[in-house]
Amino acid sequence: MELTDALALIRRVPDFPEPGVLFQDITPVLGDPAAFRAVVDAMAATLEDVDTLVAVDARGFFFGAAVAYSRGLGVVPVRKAGKLPVVGGHASYSLEYGTAQLEIPADLIKPGQRVAVIDDVLATGGTAAAACELVEHAKAEVAGITVLMEIGALGGRRRLVGRKIHALLTV
Ligand code: PRP
Ligand code: MG
Repeated sequence: MELTDALALIRRVPDFPEPGVLFQDITPVLGDPAAFRAVVDAMAATLEDVDTLVAVDARGFFFGAAVAYSRGLGVVPVRKAGKLPVVGGHASYSLEYGTAQLEIPADLIKPGQRVAVIDDVLATGGTAAAACELVEHAKAEVAGITVLMEIGALGGRRRLVGRKIHALLTV
């Protein structure tokens, strides 16, 4: 399947999870075998010289794990606070709606490693910025950020100045 056809499966859902939010529902891409393969292959192709991946809880896990497998890499889950038994660092962030904390497992990322951060959507950039902060707290280097889609109007790039951002689709 062509990447553009795969990305066309993303559904826009008005007023979810609250009034005024236009939710970008990526689940139809996950559910379609050809579309899932096309987006995973395209995300994998954005990785240059990386040692490992960080995937962001929760929707980033689908893509991070698949990209890691396809590139023969491991994947480190950055999780919402309270889910990890051995925490290596935590970072606060604000979302398009609400605020939260992300945590990284201790000792999985080695100092000096080059790490790609993988998620489904880049919106305000708070989530990706927190994930990058956790990578750097582990004394590793953020090689780039790869997302399925970027919502340009929410200005995520302003919080990620100097970072290499790969978005398969920008709306
Ligand atoms: C969503 C999305 C991104 C993040 C982007 O995650 O999956 O991770 O928001 O928003 P931002 O750029 O404004 O930070 P969310 O935590 O809402 O839900 P999830 O647990 O289903 O991934
Ligand atoms: Mg998310």
